[in-house]
Amino acid sequence: MCRPEHFTVSYSINPWMEPARPTDTAKAVRQWQTLHDAYVALGHEVHLIDPVPGLPDMVYTANGGFTIGGVAYAPKFRFTERAGEEGPFSDWFAAHGFEVAVPAETNEGEGDFLLAGSVILAGTGFRSAGDSHLEVGSVFDREVVSLTLVDPRFYHLDTALSVLDPVVDDGAEATIAYLPGAFDAASQDVLAARFPDAIRVSDADGAVFGLNSASDGRHVFVSPRAPGFAAQLRERGYEPVPIDLSELLLGGGGIKCCTLELRR
Ligand code: ARG
Repeated sequence: MCRPEHFTVSYSINPWMEPARPTDTAKAVRQWQTLHDAYVALGHEVHLIDPVPGLPDMVYTANGGFTIGGVAYAPKFRFTERAGEEGPFSDWFAAHGFEVAVPAETNEGEGDFLLAGSVILAGTGFRSAGDSHLEVGSVFDREVVSLTLVDPRFYHLDTALSVLDPVVDDGAEATIAYLPGAFDAASQDVLAARFPDAIRVSDADGAVFGLNSASDGRHVFVSPRAPGFAAQLRERGYEPVPIDLSELLLGGGGIKCCTLELRR
């Protein structure tokens, strides 16, 4: 995670970002702290990367890379506004014992790559290039399922799809939740065929970034503005942990965006 000490909205690279609208950095830090403290209280180990002045989106660490088995596939951002984050994230991985895989293709890390059981679900359409799906597959020698996003509000895969059980036994299919309308027809077919038991989230819950949630397989850290999704989670035996990151939503990010999973 990265404390949003320099958070602001000074440019617009997604439809949520309106630079004319004021932001409250102290409030962003307070809200972020509640997420951080909830992770720690529930037994998770949280590592921090130092925020860099002039990189207001660095709080969205999900975009800082994608890690499996001690290897970190580094990001290559679509927009120059975020390119300055590439060095700090790569340096952090190298300094913390990860082997860094340097990307040739544009990709925004765990914003667009989600590990679901043994396969990598990979988003494209707005940020990560389709060719990065081949690259991430070869870096980790895993099957990649490509999914195309079509709604500009849901420009990263992690804004439209959530993996609910990060660790599954070999061969088992992961449980996911997703917003069908965020995907093109072919991707909706792939998701329906591959994940018949998935939770399909309503447009209302999706529109408040309900799917931008983090799960440890039991607790699901989720926006309090998505009560329908919380009810669906409870029906399936998960425990929703509501965390309000309204200030960080002004930058187009939520709980999952502020969280990069480290798999050693
Ligand atoms: N302002 C950031 C951007 O547009 C938000 C990133 C959100 N991150 C995510 N994983 N969805 O790049």
